[in-house]
Amino acid sequence: MSTLIKGGTIVTAGDICAADLRMDGEKIAEIGKDLPQKDGDAVIQAKGRYIFPGGVDVHTHFELPFMGTISADDFKTGSIAAICGGTTSFIDFCFQDKTKPLAEAVKAWHEKSKKAVADFGYHMGITDYTPAVAAEIPSIIKQGITSFKFFMAYKGVLQIDDGQIIGIMEIIGKHGGLAMVHAENGDMIDTLVKRFVAEGKQPPEYHWLSHPALAEEEAVHRIIELARFTDQPIYIVHLSSADGLEKVKEAMSRGYKVIAETCPQYLLLSSDLYYKPNFEGAKWVMSPPLRPADHLEKMWDGLSKGFIKTVATDHCSFNFKGQKEMGRESFAKIPNGIASVGDRFNLLYTYGVGKGRLSLTRFVDVVATAPAKLFGMYPQKGSIAVGADADLVIFDPEAGGEVSAKTHHHNCDYSAYEGMKLKGLPESVLLRGKFAVRDGKYVGEQGAGRFIARGPSGKMM
Ligand code: URP
Ligand code: ZN
Ligand code: ZN
Repeated sequence: MSTLIKGGTIVTAGDICAADLRMDGEKIAEIGKDLPQKDGDAVIQAKGRYIFPGGVDVHTHFELPFMGTISADDFKTGSIAAICGGTTSFIDFCFQDKTKPLAEAVKAWHEKSKKAVADFGYHMGITDYTPAVAAEIPSIIKQGITSFKFFMAYKGVLQIDDGQIIGIMEIIGKHGGLAMVHAENGDMIDTLVKRFVAEGKQPPEYHWLSHPALAEEEAVHRIIELARFTDQPIYIVHLSSADGLEKVKEAMSRGYKVIAETCPQYLLLSSDLYYKPNFEGAKWVMSPPLRPADHLEKMWDGLSKGFIKTVATDHCSFNFKGQKEMGRESFAKIPNGIASVGDRFNLLYTYGVGKGRLSLTRFVDVVATAPAKLFGMYPQKGSIAVGADADLVIFDPEAGGEVSAKTHHHNCDYSAYEGMKLKGLPESVLLRGKFAVRDGKYVGEQGAGRFIARGPSGKMM
């Protein structure tokens, strides 16, 4: 049996057109004007609705052991939140347990991800680069895990040095993988954290004061030079500052292979939130931190002009009660991260398209198509085309709403975006041809998510 979506406006990264769409099983079978209803066809009326490709969030941390606790959303709650918010595929970071083989981490992630209700892949997170780890990289890539993150920050925990970075980039490149980096100078941060702690400075605002934009700017500059040295592309995750962005622009203008991702928080929220009384500022402790308000429009500008290619979330949720509170005695112990996998698509629509900062096609590109292309999932994901997976968002541009912990699907007791108004919401969401959200209600099947063995990453450049 096939299903016909009639009367909607199909929006892709390249086009906007009024057309009908037929799905057959899990795939898009036909797109065209006034498609006839066949015997047994189910029909979805989509007049006045946009049909978007399902969103692709390439940066999540579900059930991640981190900073002495475990992130609050697991693959079930995280992927339900994602799909209710228009995101049908995500890539989670599969972190190597230091000193252990990469393969062990992959096994652990396959176990955790059985609960997923949206499709998913993994990036490999390398925390300890040794000859044994290097030897495992080709086999990881063969399993469809074609991107690898490492850290220039979190000194003493995750940070690796330039020599190790060079080694990793060379081996990843040799086998067709893409290197991804958390670009902050961990030594600058460590110096400031130790200084503030020694001075008895405890409150949350010292988190952002110990992570200056200069630390990002320096690391972005350095990683670009290391990418030139190794002749490899580099994907910079969660770019947060106008200073870092300037370095990316400069490099792009010289033709260097740098790809930048940002997140809704670095477009919409600012560092004054750290000064909320009663330890509330802890809710926004993340790395990199929020920046002063004058960075935000510059980040939007970089996104609309194509210097920033993707918007992911870096979803890493921690409850305020019992988790963020671990840092009441010291800002340095507040688990880093916020929940937002369910908010990204809608925030980008309201504050990007709705405010005239992004065209409709650019919106689709940054939330779905570019991430799918960069990470080897296109055109199966991130597109509306015959033969692609029927992952679709039927979107009502007139629907109004508000972000709130009272209504969100995140397993988190607060929302970093509490009270922000939304205009435009998913009405229905389909995953491989099946309703996961119907008329605003989650109707998905338990464990419906499927692992995506991805093709080569970094091929869009
Ligand atoms: O604060 C953050 N970003 N937490 C998750 C870990 C990371 O650096 O991506
Ligand atoms: Zn990071
Ligand atoms: Zn992250």
